[in-house]
Amino acid sequence: MQTRRFGKTNFDVSVLGFGAAPAAFLNTEPTAAAALVNLMLDAGVNLLDTAAMYPGSEAFIGEHLAHRRDDYILVSKCGTKVSESTAAPWTPQLVADSVERALKLLKTDVIDVMLLHSCDLATLQKGDALAELVKARDAGKIRHVGYSGDNEAAAFAAGLPDVAVIETSINIVDQVNIDTVLPAAGKNDIGVIVKRPIANACWRPKEAFRGFYGNYAKPYIERFDKMNLSPEQLGFAGDDVQEHWPEIAIRFTLSFPEVSTAIIGTTNPANAQANLGYVARGPLPSGAVETLRSAFRAGNTEGKWTGQT
Ligand SMILES: NC(=O)c1ccc[n+]([C@@H]2O[C@H](COP(=O)([O-])OP(=O)(O)OC[C@H]3O[C@@H](n4cnc5c(N)ncnc54)[C@H](OP(=O)(O)O)[C@@H]3O)[C@@H](O)[C@H]2O)c1
Repeated sequence: MQTRRFGKTNFDVSVLGFGAAPAAFLNTEPTAAAALVNLMLDAGVNLLDTAAMYPGSEAFIGEHLAHRRDDYILVSKCGTKVSESTAAPWTPQLVADSVERALKLLKTDVIDVMLLHSCDLATLQKGDALAELVKARDAGKIRHVGYSGDNEAAAFAAGLPDVAVIETSINIVDQVNIDTVLPAAGKNDIGVIVKRPIANACWRPKEAFRGFYGNYAKPYIERFDKMNLSPEQLGFAGDDVQEHWPEIAIRFTLSFPEVSTAIIGTTNPANAQANLGYVARGPLPSGAVETLRSAFRAGNTEGKWTGQT
């Protein structure tokens, strides 16, 4: 497994990480989910991404994966309401309560990265939620502070001295953060986790989208249709040429040197295995990247295709 520098964190991170959202929201049976994550860890994946708001996800990691805690960089997110705290979203008290809750559920002494989970720019500018994470860092409860989000909020966060990690959406149909967030991240030596890196597999037929993915992936499905590209235009051939989209998608995301890791969400061991093979092939050739960049620009004539949270 290839690794990249994870910004100023001193970690080297695998280019493929595990995004825990689908397993949590689609209620994947825990033993099956644990087998899938273990498969990825055994192959060299070393970053797990969870959040206070992913149902049962922090507890799942604590129960099923804490025994091999040294094998992964642990990333969680907070700031949204949790049932164990009466504090309001984005307040310092809620952040403090969420850090304590996460330590307990994740069965760990320290969380490597804790991100504010997609608050708006005004909340970031107000600063007290982030300051509470800095307090937790200085107390040794978390190692690094960061922000998960997009567009101007993520670009703003990437310029803050206390922020070491940004999680943001970058993929074949979500490219604005490449031009807005990555330059700020590069300048400030920020570790960049890419969420939604395989574009929610938006090329799939409608019936393949389960649960919340039906609505969640809709903007991506529309953009993909409008971009109207074929794998052949990107240098891929074969009898079942549509099969190349997952590879094209993940290799596009990893084509940007500022990107540290791409956290694909999957509930399917066969997809996890396939993704391990795709990332081993490295970035896409520059011509294919440019074709995808041009198709995005041509589709985004009204400037409405902003980074999707
Ligand atoms: N605001 C935030 O902080 C935020 C927002 C969104 C996401 N995230 C994080 O980022 C992670 C990734 O985002 P995401 O899960 O929304 O999107 P994603 O990784 O782009 O797409 C996930 C979807 O792709 C499918 N998939 C994975 N590998 C595939 C393959 N080889 N072939 C075909 N389909 C494949 C999965 O289906 P199967 O289960 O069938 O494999 C799943 O439905 C999340 O899990 C979460 O950790 C954070």
